[in-house]
Amino acid sequence: MTDLEKGRHILVCVAWPYANAALHLGHMAGCYLPADIFARYHRLVGSDMIMVSGSDMHGTPIALAAEAEGVAPAVIAERNHGINTKALLDLDIKFDLFTSTATENHRQVVQELFLNLYNKGYVIPKTQKNPYCVSCSRFLADRFVEGECPHCGDSGARGDQCDHCGKTLDPQELINPRCKQSGDTPEFRETEHLFLRLSAFEKELLEWIEPKSHWRPNVINFTRNWLKEGLNDRAITRDLEYGIPIPLDGFEGKRIYVWFEAVIGYLSASKEWAQRSGDPDAWKRWWQNPEARSFYFLGKDNIPFHTIIWPSMLMAHGGLNLPYDVPANEYLQLGGAKFSKSSGLGVWVSDVADKFQSDSIRYYLTNNMPETRDSSWEWKEFIERVNNELVGIFGNLCHRSLTFTRKRFGTIPPLGDLDGDDLEMLGRIEATGREISAELETCNFRRALRALMNLAQSGNQYFDKKAPWALVKTDKDACGSALHVCLKLLQALAVYCAPFTPKASERLWGYLGNTGPLSWEGALQRLETGRELAEPAILFEKVELEGEQEDSTK
Ligand code: MF3
Ligand code: ZN
Repeated sequence: MTDLEKGRHILVCVAWPYANAALHLGHMAGCYLPADIFARYHRLVGSDMIMVSGSDMHGTPIALAAEAEGVAPAVIAERNHGINTKALLDLDIKFDLFTSTATENHRQVVQELFLNLYNKGYVIPKTQKNPYCVSCSRFLADRFVEGECPHCGDSGARGDQCDHCGKTLDPQELINPRCKQSGDTPEFRETEHLFLRLSAFEKELLEWIEPKSHWRPNVINFTRNWLKEGLNDRAITRDLEYGIPIPLDGFEGKRIYVWFEAVIGYLSASKEWAQRSGDPDAWKRWWQNPEARSFYFLGKDNIPFHTIIWPSMLMAHGGLNLPYDVPANEYLQLGGAKFSKSSGLGVWVSDVADKFQSDSIRYYLTNNMPETRDSSWEWKEFIERVNNELVGIFGNLCHRSLTFTRKRFGTIPPLGDLDGDDLEMLGRIEATGREISAELETCNFRRALRALMNLAQSGNQYFDKKAPWALVKTDKDACGSALHVCLKLLQALAVYCAPFTPKASERLWGYLGNTGPLSWEGALQRLETGRELAEPAILFEKVELEGEQEDSTK
């Protein structure tokens, strides 16, 4: 078995967006789009795969938004869950299941896992001194308290994490803490919480990450550095009224920490998918089968929860697969500033999806994906890339090949004698397919897209060199052969582009007269000489700046 054939059971896990606000393009480029490209590819090659996620409905982000609006947290969460489910559809992000953490199934799976860890002695009670705001008369959990980060000194650290350096925190570690609501300095009061004994997994985690040479450097370095500093036990309960109750007596006024339960969502969603599919045990194909591989797509602020906390929870539980890869992205910014739900700065999916083809948005986002460093959404560059590359190179090649063949031959002409250029083009089609496969399997999405566009570009050069408009007059057979090669190229492009621009892919596949479903193998299938070609329409529309976007480029 070759390495590529191994691990054909693929679980695609995508970070669960907080239901406190609408998703913006930064989230899409950060994790939903790469996950979708990866999943679409695996569906095409016939992997046994599912892609799951859902809205993260609990925690202080939602509680804070609810207080600001003066409604119950569940109202905010349900509303944003609806908005985000639609936003994902708008960009053709195709989940097998996009659920939420507010389901009965999730509650059950979480409480079971929690109890299992408790019974094994990995969850233990400890007394903690936590910030308490006298004017709000409550403990300040997670985002209800802000202060300076004890690790990097950043002034915007919150009770559970510093977004600047990515370290997870306990609220009492914050320097100069203050209540997010009242601005007061909290006092510290004793409160009992349950702790996950992370320290028990230090050695096992080190051994586990040791051979992860396929992880991205940012992910492996972050995780290694963290482990080097040693692991502290972490509180996994909170003084809150909103969230999943603790299944033990004596903790009635407390809830399970949102991060502890949200990561369990990957498992609960797999179980929910299995239930819905009619085979309740089907989730085991990805969680208990040692050949299965799970890929976790997320933004860099989520790394520790997926490379340290979730793996140690899985180790503590036993019998379930640990992550195979965690291809975390950096951030996509907007004209150099950070997209942020809370500051209201960003480009909202619903706004762009109304104005532009989803394929065009996906194309530019992939080109600009923050795989190795932060990148930036620039309206001007969006317009240029769509018009010059998607329309000018890819769309143009398809359009001229199809319309010329239809006009001069009506059907697919036969392949006759081949010259060196033909052979080179045919070889390139195959080689590019292998290259795109290899890049996609290893989550190098930008490189995969570059390979695709280079192939389209060389198709244009081939077309120009063959000059079928002249050749048809001097040697009609040779012209037919050249067009046959062009159509073979279009067939391959229709398949190769499917993970990136799924709508164009389907249409192009149809213009070639195909009726069956797309598959990766189909890229190189024989073209049926004499088959009718459908009338092609424009694959990609040219785009223009509108007022608001023009302003943002000044
Ligand atoms: N809700 C978190 C965020 O938006 C991500 C949770 S990912 C999960 O940053 F694994 F916990 F689900
Ligand atoms: Zn910090």
